[in-house]
Amino acid sequence: MFAKKTTFVRFRQDIKGIDKKVLLKGKKKSNYIYLDNAASTPPLIPVLKEMDDYMDWYAGVHRGTGYKSLISSRIYDDCHEIVGRFVGADLSRDSVVFVKNTTEAVNKLSYRLQLQPQDIIIITAMEHHSNELPWRARAQVKTVPVDNEGKLDLNRLEDLLIRNQPHVKLLAVCGASNVTGHINDVHLMAKIAHNFGCKIFVDGAQLIPHHHFDMKSHDDPEHIDFLAFSGHKIFSPFGVGVLIGPRDVFFNGSPEYQGGGTVKLVFKDEVFWADPPAREEAGSPNIIGAYGLARTLQYLDKLDMNVLSQGEAELTSYTLKKLVELSFVRLYGSRPRVGVISFNLKGIPYALTGAILCFEAGIGLRTGCFCAQNYVRNLLGVPEDYQQLQFYDSKELDKIPGMVRISLAPYNTYAEVDYLIKWLKIIADNRYEFRRRYKFSPQEGGFIPTDLNCHDYISNICRHYMKI
Ligand SMILES: Cc1ncc(COP(=O)(O)O)c(C=O)c1O
Repeated sequence: MFAKKTTFVRFRQDIKGIDKKVLLKGKKKSNYIYLDNAASTPPLIPVLKEMDDYMDWYAGVHRGTGYKSLISSRIYDDCHEIVGRFVGADLSRDSVVFVKNTTEAVNKLSYRLQLQPQDIIIITAMEHHSNELPWRARAQVKTVPVDNEGKLDLNRLEDLLIRNQPHVKLLAVCGASNVTGHINDVHLMAKIAHNFGCKIFVDGAQLIPHHHFDMKSHDDPEHIDFLAFSGHKIFSPFGVGVLIGPRDVFFNGSPEYQGGGTVKLVFKDEVFWADPPAREEAGSPNIIGAYGLARTLQYLDKLDMNVLSQGEAELTSYTLKKLVELSFVRLYGSRPRVGVISFNLKGIPYALTGAILCFEAGIGLRTGCFCAQNYVRNLLGVPEDYQQLQFYDSKELDKIPGMVRISLAPYNTYAEVDYLIKWLKIIADNRYEFRRRYKFSPQEGGFIPTDLNCHDYISNICRHYMKI
């Protein structure tokens, strides 16, 4: 059964900036095609309108007595509940904490668990740096390896749990990879971890925007103990992210950030901390960001997340089928996956492919290692090489191994995918010609065409918005 067409027409109409035109070589202008949704998604027009309306009542929360503050406080509190309900949190036992993004959520959790040097966190070889480095900074880290296709070996997870008990404090794993899009069976992993008395944290940055998700009841062995995700990856780019976890965990010790909003009472020698989430949200919070996220999630619920993910899955299968037909494409990863697809064109630097798609075709995507350098190296089969540091310093970033990544969202169309495929063929057929016409610019950290003044074009647009 195919996903309902009308849902996608409506969704696409509601995406801000969908018809933006950009300058291409030859001074043509063309519709911009955005295939970088794994980085950040565009906002929704109806939600932008609601945010603007709500600004009439905007005021600081929890500390004022006027109507604006009382109304804003109620709305801000409700936002926590709406976000928690969207992922099936148990609001009687869990706290929903607003943070900046997933990175801040992981750092906060790594602090909040009050880890000791002998504690062990199990992560996986497919994690984004944001779900790797905070753990490395505070505990010993053991890693579940991946196979050649980038999938986890769950037998090794069990081995690690057996060998390292009682020191394993947490299993931290992404719901879906930002490199291969591979979806992990996090509920099965939760069951395995819980068997060993270990809790699980799911980095939902790439999963929650693509799938209906349920943390499941606390009594269920498949329950997800902690979850984080970012608003800007789920059509709400207003600087808010979420960390959800059991309330009692947030009572452990004093908050990481201390100050206004985190306390009940302060005496000269004693502080009585507020209950979560307030004790975890120091200072004046991002009320409007939280409102934007809550209304976006309600919008997605109403449109039906299941329909949207089904549509995205069909588009992803179509794209993979088309890419597999191209003999010059080297694809990475395997199913099940969200609409995140990484590849290389044989014999063509990934950064050059990205530049040609940008300047000749008006397609926005991402190239490089996507903040998952160890995973990307693993998939490419290249060794670690500290010499590469010199390329960062000399800004010769093209010398560092990497990939091209497209990331789809349910508003993307089959025509956009066909257009991408057409351009990949053009690049492969004209690779020598393109190599001559593009130069690597250390200033930009990427390739630019020798015969297009993109600097002036970019500067003019920035000047327009910055009013300078
Ligand atoms: C899987 C994954 N985890 C964490 C992050 C970090 O998200 P943020 O930049 O919103 O903190 C990203 C960002 O791309 C990601 O893809």
